[in-house]
Amino acid sequence: MTKTRAAITGINAWVPEYRLTNSELSTMVDTTDEWIMQRVGIRERRILKGEGKATSDLGEQAVRGLLEKTKTSPDDIDLLICATVTPDMLFPATSNIISDKAGIKNAFSFDLNAACSGFLFALQTGASYVESGRYKKVIVVGADKMSAITDYTDRTTCTLFGDAGGAVLLEPTEEEYGIMDHIFRVDGSGRKYLHMKAGGSLRPASHETVDAREHFIYQEGQSVFKFAVSNMADVAAEIMEKNNLRSEDIAWLVPHQANLRIIDATGRRMGLPPEKVMINIQNYGNTTAATIPLCIWEFENRLKKGDNLILAAFGGGFTWGSMWVKWAYDPVSGKE
Ligand code: UT7
Repeated sequence: MTKTRAAITGINAWVPEYRLTNSELSTMVDTTDEWIMQRVGIRERRILKGEGKATSDLGEQAVRGLLEKTKTSPDDIDLLICATVTPDMLFPATSNIISDKAGIKNAFSFDLNAACSGFLFALQTGASYVESGRYKKVIVVGADKMSAITDYTDRTTCTLFGDAGGAVLLEPTEEEYGIMDHIFRVDGSGRKYLHMKAGGSLRPASHETVDAREHFIYQEGQSVFKFAVSNMADVAAEIMEKNNLRSEDIAWLVPHQANLRIIDATGRRMGLPPEKVMINIQNYGNTTAATIPLCIWEFENRLKKGDNLILAAFGGGFTWGSMWVKWAYDPVSGKE
């Protein structure tokens, strides 16, 4: 019997207009363009401004564009999964809000939190529903309004993050394309290095938590860097070995965009030349669950049917993983 796979049949992303540049950041905290470019590789990031704007707005825009682009009726969507660490509210799920805003009425939806690995974990979850034969059209969203939890008085974190949303459509195929394999890992003991201290059931919001600035990202950068650089590279190399893929078989590495040095190390470990590595960190910074769909969307027109992509991420939790995707369609004409 032929195996049903889940193929990505469309991708879209959306970023807000406002560009927070290194030069503007250097008026807010003690930092420089030189430091940020050398240590991280970010030139600017997009920020969602405006009263009442939230992660669901980033997701809604990405999903609306995806439906339009793939000529899919919102009524035909079976399931929508949203990966995010910046939900509009603790509940209901942001996926429910995105579905409502995008006019998706016949689906169920839920959020998934795996920090920067969220999109990968959600993509595999969505793919499994398709592979099982149960659902035919699944949308996977990665969206984060990181500016909502970024402390713009803390120079060690405020240069790093940006806001964005991305979405893919998954559909069944009997061909040898789509989501081929994955390796995922977590290590909860790493939570001490990267987390948000308050706002959950452990430390509900109070005057004290607000005064102590505990509703923002807390990161011990160097420790996270050490785990990220080794684990992301290892897991990317591991999925190649597991599937007998040589570096010449790989068309693209799609890495989570947290730090250019981590991305370079992963590419080198896989034996890939720099031109096979998707990089857009300079324009958007770290958009957490959105980095991978945002990257693929920007490079979409350079992808060909049958291209082998290795997706790799590392994030808070710790969570990390890699995925082998065989791209399922040729460039869409009309896109610049
Ligand atoms: O996506 C989720 C996973 N997250 C990651 O993968 C992030 C991993 N970590 C990193 O990417 C890096 O650790 C950072 C970019 C966060 C920091 O880079 P680093 O090379 O590890 O710098 P550091 O923390 O060791 O700091 C070096 C120096 C320190 O000064 P001293 O103690 O040497 O005097 C910092 O205070 O740089 C200073 N520094 C800054 N200087 C100018 C820290 N932030 C800044 C800044 N501007 N924005």
